[in-house]
Amino acid sequence: MKIQTKAVHAGDRKKTGAYVPATTPIYSAASYFYDSMEQLDRVFAREEPGYCYARYDNPTNAALEELVAALEGGHGALACGSGMAAIHMALLAALADGRKAILAANALYGATVGLLMNVMEPSGVEVRFADVCDLDEFRQALEESKPGVVLLETISNPLLRVAPLDRLASLARECGAAVIVDNTFATPLLVRPMELGANLVVHSATKYLAGHGDVLGGLVVSDSGHYAGLRTLSRAIGPVLGPFESYLTMRGIKTMPLRMERQCANACRVASWLAANPAIERVYFPADPAHPDAAEILRLLPPGLYGAIVSFELKGAARDEVFRFMNALQMIVRSTSLGDVHSMMLYPVMSSHRDISPRHRERMGIRDNLVRLSVGIEAVEDIIEDLEQALSFQPRP
Ligand SMILES: Cc1ncc(COP(=O)(O)O)c(C=O)c1O
Repeated sequence: MKIQTKAVHAGDRKKTGAYVPATTPIYSAASYFYDSMEQLDRVFAREEPGYCYARYDNPTNAALEELVAALEGGHGALACGSGMAAIHMALLAALADGRKAILAANALYGATVGLLMNVMEPSGVEVRFADVCDLDEFRQALEESKPGVVLLETISNPLLRVAPLDRLASLARECGAAVIVDNTFATPLLVRPMELGANLVVHSATKYLAGHGDVLGGLVVSDSGHYAGLRTLSRAIGPVLGPFESYLTMRGIKTMPLRMERQCANACRVASWLAANPAIERVYFPADPAHPDAAEILRLLPPGLYGAIVSFELKGAARDEVFRFMNALQMIVRSTSLGDVHSMMLYPVMSSHRDISPRHRERMGIRDNLVRLSVGIEAVEDIIEDLEQALSFQPRP
């Protein structure tokens, strides 16, 4: 063979033989080669296991999907290029029965509200919001809007409300609506929404699942009823995660329970410290006995595992004081994400909930003095010390 041909073919398409890599490698191949056309035909027809084309599936993604479906107790999963792509795919799969109405929690991640208002509604889907911590309001909204889908978050972003997922799911099912739960904040270590009646669970894998701030990804976990439809939609739309990100996510998940336990314990300590600090007006944290959903938290979250996000309001602070406080942080990273090994802080009004109208934000209870801290795995004393020095920081005149 000539060098041009060797450059293209040498070393490739080796049979894997009798050995099995101990962890799943990155399969970056876009397509797959078989001994015969007959065999490829059987793989296309799903009469024989195998892979044809990376938009359909890929061994690295398949391993991650199997892992996350096992953690959440689902029938199968789909790895997507972002959490938002995962939410969009879940909505499309759940609306496939033709009922063009969504009933959503009124406290949701800002971009999810954007997806509902700017993508779903203009495409002819009726969108309605309800306070899902109020069962009567939810019941009434269900009866009036007869939705095909109910969309919830396990622990809401950023005010950390915990709705009675099991009761909401059973009411939704009575009226024939599919239930989608965004389990990003809780992770399956704390709550497995499918055990509580959800049909589809979504994750921004960017957060606790991958956990190191180096992946943008999402997952949809599905029950058996929606799985085939989800995969058909995915083949048509092509929102799939790249194999490198899939590999990193799988690698991250191996330590997710360990990281999460540590982060939850650190968050409990940080929340108690903040609650006792006179510069803080209010702390939002699920371990607070005065939390408005304390009864649900006791019922749904395992003791000691209340999540690792602490939101709090700085007393009397306007945007400038919030900026001054956040600029003074030395170790806690000012950045727009959550769930990484390092602690990080975000200003919801400026980032996660920026595109929501001030009126809607007000209704959601997100005030201009609210910040959201994602507590990392560092020594908790160092996290508290950084908060303390930033709270007492006075700029030089
Ligand atoms: C609860 C929640 N769901 C979904 C998303 C969207 O995920 P991604 O940024 O991976 O698209 C986020 C992102 O912050 C989130 O916090």
